[in-house]
Amino acid sequence: MASSSSPFFLFLFLAFLHCHVPSAVASNLHRSRLLRPSPPLEVSLTAEADSPTRFFEVTKPIDTPPGAEPFSYLVLRHQFAYTYGKPPVLATYTPPSDQGYSFRDFSKIVLEWTATCRGRQFDRIFGVWLGGVELLRSCTAEPRATGIVWTVKKDITRYHSLLMKNGTLAVYIGNIITDVYTGIYDVNITIHFYPAGAASGLDSRKSLPGYHSTADLILPISQNSLMNDGLWFKIENSTDTGSKKFSVPRNVYRAVLEVYVSFHENDEFWYGNYPNEYIEANNLTGVAGNGPFREVLVILDGQTVLGSVWPFTVIFTGGINPLFWRPITAIGSFNLPSYDIEITPFLSRILDGEPHELGFSVTNALNVWYIDANLHLWLDHKSQMTESELVSYSSSPLSYSSEVNFKGFDGKFITRASRSILATGWVKSSYGKITTVLNQRFKFSNKMMMGNEANLQIIQQMISYNDKVDLKTESSSSSSSVRLIRSYKKFPFKLYMNAFDQGNDTHSYVANVTLGFNEKKGKNLELGVPGSKLRNVQKADGYMVVKNNLVASGLGSTSEVCRFDSKGDYYFRNVSSSNYTILYDDVRSGCDGRGRRDSPPVFRA
Ligand SMILES: *[C@@H]1O[C@H](CO)[C@@H](O)[C@H](O)[C@H]1NC(C)=O
Ligand SMILES: *[C@@H]1O[C@H](CO)[C@@H](O)[C@H](O)[C@H]1NC(C)=O
Ligand SMILES: *[C@@H]1O[C@H](CO)[C@@H](O)[C@H](O)[C@H]1NC(C)=O
Ligand SMILES: *[C@@H]1O[C@H](CO)[C@@H](O)[C@H](O)[C@H]1NC(C)=O
Ligand SMILES: *[C@@H]1O[C@H](CO)[C@@H](O)[C@H](O)[C@H]1NC(C)=O
Ligand SMILES: *[C@@H]1O[C@H](CO)[C@@H](O)[C@H](O)[C@H]1NC(C)=O
Ligand SMILES: *[C@@H]1O[C@H](CO)[C@@H](O)[C@H](O)[C@H]1NC(C)=O
Ligand SMILES: *[C@@H]1O[C@H](CO)[C@@H](O)[C@H](O)[C@H]1NC(C)=O
Repeated sequence: MASSSSPFFLFLFLAFLHCHVPSAVASNLHRSRLLRPSPPLEVSLTAEADSPTRFFEVTKPIDTPPGAEPFSYLVLRHQFAYTYGKPPVLATYTPPSDQGYSFRDFSKIVLEWTATCRGRQFDRIFGVWLGGVELLRSCTAEPRATGIVWTVKKDITRYHSLLMKNGTLAVYIGNIITDVYTGIYDVNITIHFYPAGAASGLDSRKSLPGYHSTADLILPISQNSLMNDGLWFKIENSTDTGSKKFSVPRNVYRAVLEVYVSFHENDEFWYGNYPNEYIEANNLTGVAGNGPFREVLVILDGQTVLGSVWPFTVIFTGGINPLFWRPITAIGSFNLPSYDIEITPFLSRILDGEPHELGFSVTNALNVWYIDANLHLWLDHKSQMTESELVSYSSSPLSYSSEVNFKGFDGKFITRASRSILATGWVKSSYGKITTVLNQRFKFSNKMMMGNEANLQIIQQMISYNDKVDLKTESSSSSSSVRLIRSYKKFPFKLYMNAFDQGNDTHSYVANVTLGFNEKKGKNLELGVPGSKLRNVQKADGYMVVKNNLVASGLGSTSEVCRFDSKGDYYFRNVSSSNYTILYDDVRSGCDGRGRRDSPPVFRA
């Protein structure tokens, strides 16, 4: 069929637009002759402001000790010009003690990224690593001629042991400068150390040593920083794996694997990818297939599935309609979530003094996923060696169903999947015998509708992601049972997108999207961990006119309601923007425990 002269498949460009990965841009340009703008997309510089636009992602502010002045220093300043495919920018990191600050006990450590940029540029993925351990995965904001500025603050207290040592900081942004794309990212990274006050002493230390504190040792499961590009593994297809050999000290009594993932190029919009049958029957070329389900598996020594990650649908700052994200960016875009897997039950498999291998694969993956991980280890300082055993383990195969119905370009696809992983293991250390029970449960559903000659796509997706970790402690004098982690996450996602050919290589797109990150965490009184509830939902809608990969005109509006509740304290923000302007911004926080009348409004997603 003469796809080069018909208005079909305009939606498909989505899969290639906002990739941040210039190598793919080149290949995609030649992959198809569909009537869609060449990827990626950025916005015309005509409408400009008097002062730099400040972009932001709505998040609950980090709790820092009231009144405490942090000890802060700049760890890196760099201008990222043409950095694509080059080695990461490196800086020597020294801990506060080597910066003349004798205090060593910190209640909070915060990484602050601030960047400015001016001119034209795409959104770019970037990572920050210390000693190969990833501290931040993020996406840049797209600049304007009059400049932009943005700040990302991340609580990095959990990397405490690493931050108390000398190390090498590595930052990689895949940025390209040409005559047209002129935006250079001017970046400062500062770390703030908040001294622990007298009141912040960890009072539950007696009940379960170590289980509420940060890890003693963090091992990078990432690539060598001498390589070009970032330190992540690149997963290019469903059979590809990224892996690394590692060995751990023999006195580990707890281990948590923290996994970072991001998806780009053909899988940047994996939740909108078509079933291959539909692509083949309609002779579509250059479109992203294998349907809308993706799962990241974590595998030990090539055989044991330790856990899984069903990722949140992060939309980068140039995604779907770049005008949506100006200046409120999509949930997670400036601070991509990482995913923890409690691997303590499996310790006996790695504590034999031999090297082992951790690998990552992505079900149905298309080029390309960036994945790496940090292995957080707690060490028994009173013994050379712990004892451990995996008592039971069950990882049922993925349950997956896909209904594919279509006639020509009109179609309806329903994809469902679920998985559960259960593992029980004990560890004997100087703290006694502790049995850990891991229970991961996942559920996925995606309903996709295609219409208007494949120019219309409607998606409704839900991911449920439940983690439970239980501990049973036995010592000579007593035994008890503790709920360590209860986390229930729900990631709702809805998209409506319709495309119209305006002739003359110009297309217009109408789209709206609903994106939510909701998480309930159970409380744990033994460890002094309060329960919490987060609901963070964005709704965006608008249109754009695109000519030659430039958004020539359009309008994007976004509203977001974020509410976090914990221990009767709450944080609430209701904010909206349209055409670069904040329409309203209602921020409230405080104590909600004293009476209903003073309560802020409760919202439903
Ligand atoms: C970075 O820090 C330098 C020195 O403190 C300052 O002059 C500059 O404005 C900062 N740049 C950004 C983007 O914050
Ligand atoms: C960091 O390295 C410096 C210079 O080699 C050394 O003097 C200092 O003791 C080291 N600090 C730590 C915490 O290892
Ligand atoms: C998957 O990707 C790997 C790594 O690039 C490559 O070696 C392999 O041939 C690919 N497999 C398929 C089926 O394309
Ligand atoms: C797809 O291509 C095949 C072979 O070129 C052709 O027989 C078939 O009619 C085409 N189908 C459509 C829907 O264009
Ligand atoms: C089509 O685009 C070209 C190049 O941008 C422009 O010169 C021409 O006037 C346009 N034609 C119409 C009918 O809009
Ligand atoms: C998205 O747009 C479509 C078409 O205009 C409309 O039917 C639908 O209600 C919209 N959804 C939202 C959440 O705005
Ligand atoms: C957006 O705002 C600019 C001024 O900053 C204005 O020129 C433009 O017309 C507005 N766009 C829309 C679609 O309202
Ligand atoms: C957010 O603010 C808008 C505008 O004031 C209001 O219409 C809406 O009801 C508010 N939403 C919530 C959940 O408070």
